Amino acid sequence: MKLADNKATLSFSNGSPSVEMPVYQGNIGPDVIDIRKLYAQTGMFTYDPGFLSTASCQSGITYIDGDKGELLYRGYPIEQLATNVDYLDTCHLLLKGELPNKTEQVAFHKLVTNHTMVNEQMQFFLRGFRRDAHPMAVLTGLVGALSAFYHDSTDINNPEHREIAAIRLIAKMPTLVAMAYKYGVGQPFMYPQNDLSYSGNFLRMMFGTPCEEYKVNPVIERAMDRIFILHADHEQNASTSTVRLCGSSGTNPFAAIAAGVACLWGPAHGGANEACLNMLEDIQRQGGVSKVGQFMEQVKDKNSGVKLMGFGHRVYKNYDPRAKLMQETCNEVLEALGLENDPLFKLAKQLEKIALEDDYFVQRKLYPNVDFYSGIVQRAIGIPVNLFTGIFALARTVGWIAQLNEMIGDPEYKIGRPRQLFTGSVKRDVKPLDQR
Ligand code: SDX
Repeated sequence: MKLADNKATLSFSNGSPSVEMPVYQGNIGPDVIDIRKLYAQTGMFTYDPGFLSTASCQSGITYIDGDKGELLYRGYPIEQLATNVDYLDTCHLLLKGELPNKTEQVAFHKLVTNHTMVNEQMQFFLRGFRRDAHPMAVLTGLVGALSAFYHDSTDINNPEHREIAAIRLIAKMPTLVAMAYKYGVGQPFMYPQNDLSYSGNFLRMMFGTPCEEYKVNPVIERAMDRIFILHADHEQNASTSTVRLCGSSGTNPFAAIAAGVACLWGPAHGGANEACLNMLEDIQRQGGVSKVGQFMEQVKDKNSGVKLMGFGHRVYKNYDPRAKLMQETCNEVLEALGLENDPLFKLAKQLEKIALEDDYFVQRKLYPNVDFYSGIVQRAIGIPVNLFTGIFALARTVGWIAQLNEMIGDPEYKIGRPRQLFTGSVKRDVKPLDQR
């Protein structure tokens, strides 16, 4: 970051001395006011619950322009990545800053492939769960459990250890997600098969059985890979910020990623794809497109607590570019599977059309986000609704670990420790029990 020639001056109406603060510029996007010395100089904190106007770090990984609806991974537009490279190339890009050349691509693919198995002991963790446990609860446990196998061999201050932890996490997440699924349906776990692509291997571990050879459908394989690319990273979203804050204590990277899985589960964040599909199914059950108007009235009634899941975003005040690409993938997959007339896809497109013409949504700049169509395409692939967020976590693992490693690799980083505006009871004495 570079010092701007502009400065910020904070003055107070009560005559307290004004404070000057430096302004820094990034390569693109808003400048920042450096308030690190504010408390020392004024005895005051800034106040920004939800961090609407707060940059928590500097990063060179992902840039979002919410007004333009633009998303860049290391400078490359998501539209170009989603159509020209695969997920492992995207992982290489996010982790190392560059797309791989042919030699690097082969080496990276081989490295990841050689780490796809998990320790045989991992299967016994699943037995503690009921078969109907939510896969995100299982996944939070499994990812956290990985730290038990690597705690002694992971010195996060060693760049090589950080690199192998990243590879292990990227490589093992598909295996763990598939295990969570197989456990839920009571089928045997499938071991990774190293001659398949990353996405093909995941599909086989999910839908293959020991009883017959599994044939990867190339259209589904490509769609799965694109879903992974679209979910790979997204700047300082809630789960990435969780991973950074958790990792800032120096904890094991596997434990920090488990914290990210837990945060992503929330319906306001990664859990929105599951919530969106359930919302579409509810509307469909109640009568489908004919009920959309009534549903929209509920959404606009603040007291209903009903939100149009898959719509709206803290940063995008325009169409989420990932939603457009996801809709395209939806078309391709539904066509390939002969499901062009999928009622939920029709319903979703009708909902989107009505919302984008409705003043409530236009005024609030609410557009479809990545979660609006992702559930429809995953459902068509055969992924159960309660596993959608697990797929999101699988794909976002590379973003989480890239952001964590970027933070740990910054010599200036400190443990994150926000302050507060205290509104509780002032100091008072404990009274004896008979006087309370
Ligand atoms: C992801 O941060 C990321 O980058 C996340 C993510 C990633 O890749 O990591 O992009 C992934 O989490 C996408 C978002 C998925 N969540 C949903 O689809 C859930 C539904 N969306 C909302 O909950 C909401 O839009 C948020 C949480 C996504 C954003 O909320 P904000 O930025 O805190 O905005 P807000 O809740 O203050 O909403 C502003 C206004 C409010 O109305 P008013 O108070 O102005 O009258 O818009 C309304 C909200 O009530 N609003 C909605 C709405 N989203 C916002 N009204 C109806 N339906 C919605 N979906």
